Amino acid sequence: MMPNRLLAFFFRAGLAFAVQAASADEKPMMKAVVAHEYGTPEVLKFEQVPRPEPKDDEALVHVIASGVNPADPLTLNGKYAQEWGTHLPLIPGYDIAGVVEKVGAKITTLKVGDAVYGYPTFGGGWAEFVTVKEWEVAAKPKSLSFAEAAAVPMCALTAWQALVDTAQLQAGQTILIHGGSGGVGSFAVQIAKARGAKVIATASTANQDLLKQLGADVPIDYTKTKFEDVAKDVDAVLDPVGRETLAGSYGVVKKGGIVISLVARPDPVEIEKRQIRGATVWVQPKAKDLAEIAHLIDARKIKPVVTQVLPLSEAIAAEQQAATHHTRGKVVLRVADEPKS
Ligand SMILES: NC(=O)c1ccc[n+]([C@@H]2O[C@H](COP(=O)([O-])OP(=O)(O)OC[C@H]3O[C@@H](n4cnc5c(N)ncnc54)[C@H](OP(=O)(O)O)[C@@H]3O)[C@@H](O)[C@H]2O)c1
Repeated sequence: MMPNRLLAFFFRAGLAFAVQAASADEKPMMKAVVAHEYGTPEVLKFEQVPRPEPKDDEALVHVIASGVNPADPLTLNGKYAQEWGTHLPLIPGYDIAGVVEKVGAKITTLKVGDAVYGYPTFGGGWAEFVTVKEWEVAAKPKSLSFAEAAAVPMCALTAWQALVDTAQLQAGQTILIHGGSGGVGSFAVQIAKARGAKVIATASTANQDLLKQLGADVPIDYTKTKFEDVAKDVDAVLDPVGRETLAGSYGVVKKGGIVISLVARPDPVEIEKRQIRGATVWVQPKAKDLAEIAHLIDARKIKPVVTQVLPLSEAIAAEQQAATHHTRGKVVLRVADEPKS
């Protein structure tokens, strides 16, 4: 018995070595969602592609889950390719939560095995591995699963940079948040409440319950009530909707207050006429902001609203949903099983 077992052991070990030796020359591969042409979500393909190799100033992250944003279909249709610096073939996915697999020589704040979440500037999250810069990720909130953490980065950063950095929202002030049940809005309502502000928020009939759960003081059903009839003399407006919603927003802000758009440039004529301020916020990946957001999440002050977790192979359906501009909370793609803690 014994010699046979030994033989079998050495045979298996030898075979494993042979397999490793044979594949050492080949590039390791990974599953990814890839677009080879710009277009609608249907151009996305589920493929095996070479795994990226981190440069000296990058870390390689094993992605466990990746969030879905309206920015994904916008990137995919190629209209913003030049200004956003995207190129084909492209792997979508601006939100990631995962585990550091490898670090470049110049990386100082991340180490192999760290659980991180963040926003890779050029996407790439809808894949098993993605490379990130140090300033694009922070420690994952401990109280969240990877799937929940993947719902946070782009939307929470946008809300944070709009409310905290740009509006400098203070306790006791009043803010009107349009689209309060969506990705950005659901974080904005909670961040505003955490800062002690009074929140007026809009959404359709089906999402009034969510506005209340998030802590909105005055929920408005925009399909039934004009927000201009309810919101008066507010300190700030956050508008992720645009067009008539932006046009109606100037008149509800008090003198010296601010209208922040996420989708258009506020009208300079309205701004001057009403002696208010206007700003457009373009979100930036920032490790420091991600760390502050993680702190608020672990302090149970804010939490992501994850309404759907889909397998990576359902990326087309996820992308179609993101293009509707009527997502309740966040949709997340599951890339790998949650690691055992
Ligand atoms: N500038 C930036 O850096 C930046 C960053 C992130 C996002 N964005 C942009 O901001 C927008 C929102 O992003 P998101 O992730 O929050 O999208 P989302 O998850 O699709 O949410 C959109 C929200 O808008 C609401 N909505 C739709 N039509 C409305 C209307 N007429 N009045 C009031 N609310 C309305 C929806 O509520 P109902 O479903 O109840 O209708 C939903 O809550 C997108 O256009 C996105 O591209 C910009």
